[in-house]
Amino acid sequence: MIAPTDFRLGLYVHWPFCQKRCPYCDFNVHEVGMGDSTDHQRWAAALVRELQHFAPLAQGRLLTSIFFGGGTPSLMQPETVAAVIEAAQAEIGFRNDIEISLEANPTSSDADRFSGFRDAGVNRLSLGIQSLRDKALLALGRQHTVEEALSALGHARDTFDNISFDLMYARPRQQFEDWQAELDEALALKPNHISLYQLTIEPNTIFEQLTRKGMIQPKDADETADFYLATRAQLEQAGFHGYEVSNHAREPHFQSQHNRLYWAYQDYIGIGPGAHGRLTTGGSKIATRQHRAPSVWLDHVEGAAGHATVTREVLSAEDRLAEALPFGLRLSEGLPLEHYADLAEAPLNARALAVLEEEGLLSTGAGVLKVTDQGRPVIDALARYLQS
Ligand SMILES: C[S@@+](CC[C@H](N)C(=O)[O-])C[C@H]1O[C@@H](n2cnc3c(N)ncnc32)[C@H](O)[C@@H]1O
Repeated sequence: MIAPTDFRLGLYVHWPFCQKRCPYCDFNVHEVGMGDSTDHQRWAAALVRELQHFAPLAQGRLLTSIFFGGGTPSLMQPETVAAVIEAAQAEIGFRNDIEISLEANPTSSDADRFSGFRDAGVNRLSLGIQSLRDKALLALGRQHTVEEALSALGHARDTFDNISFDLMYARPRQQFEDWQAELDEALALKPNHISLYQLTIEPNTIFEQLTRKGMIQPKDADETADFYLATRAQLEQAGFHGYEVSNHAREPHFQSQHNRLYWAYQDYIGIGPGAHGRLTTGGSKIATRQHRAPSVWLDHVEGAAGHATVTREVLSAEDRLAEALPFGLRLSEGLPLEHYADLAEAPLNARALAVLEEEGLLSTGAGVLKVTDQGRPVIDALARYLQS
């Protein structure tokens, strides 16, 4: 069971704006173009107001992490980031070792704000570099070159001790040897933490339309699995532990504390358009979701209610297990079987566990449920089977 001292409380803040939507992206994102006309003061006030609405649900617990995600939170004015952090400290309070992360795009104008974010209290920067090949950046519709990304990384290094960057791989037409070379170049940059995401063709994106028209050919499942296994091995060899399906850290203290709380199914408040939250209150776990459209979200937050919650439901034991299993299985260290038994108010299906263990897809040694390397590519199917 997760000891009470390990119990973590996070705050997710969604900034829904990007200069331009990337053609593969299906996140809740709205384009602002070059001349961003966002009313930053109005947004700062609204985010603080929604945070004040949720603060009582912390019930005396201190925040262990804050994550500014998007969208492109590096388009926020540092004053807005500071206002949210100050309100979080005043209304909820921080544990001493709080991690405060912000996702940034590696353009020079975003990099100009890095020191402002640090002064506002951000102590971890996650840079969306995506590729170290200019041709690939162009194909991904990115707004920066490799040179610009490396310069932003240098700037981030001068400003923060804790930096991560994201790369996307298994891209259409990507040659395996070239990816290995690109990854070696990325590792030579000596990040503390690196997130490696396989390109997914999401519904209702430009990449999906291009795939349907035969204009791009995504890699098939076998090729993607080969890329995945070789990528993990290359990272392990370079001294990066793959502590989660897509995330690798040079040392345990560089693991993303905020993302770890999602995988361990702990609590977080979610504010901003489309943000989700999961909070334990009165013995129940509640799921919250905020209005997605920025203008609707603003209207609701500025109205009498002071928040833009569109759904708030108590999760059943079945719901909790359905959410916690696929998340928990993503962590290489696994999670105790009692953690799931507590959430589901019943032990896990012993027969299904035995079958999957027999097949070498997961292990339950020392009472900890973990997937094996063979099981990792099929986590969602394993989670469904365990609930059948
Ligand atoms: C929503 S983005 C926000 C961060 C930042 N604005 C950026 O563009 O880098 C967060 C990360 O999700 C990943 N991502 C988004 N869409 C993806 C997709 N279709 N397939 C794989 N990774 C994706 C990218 O690596 C990206 O860095």
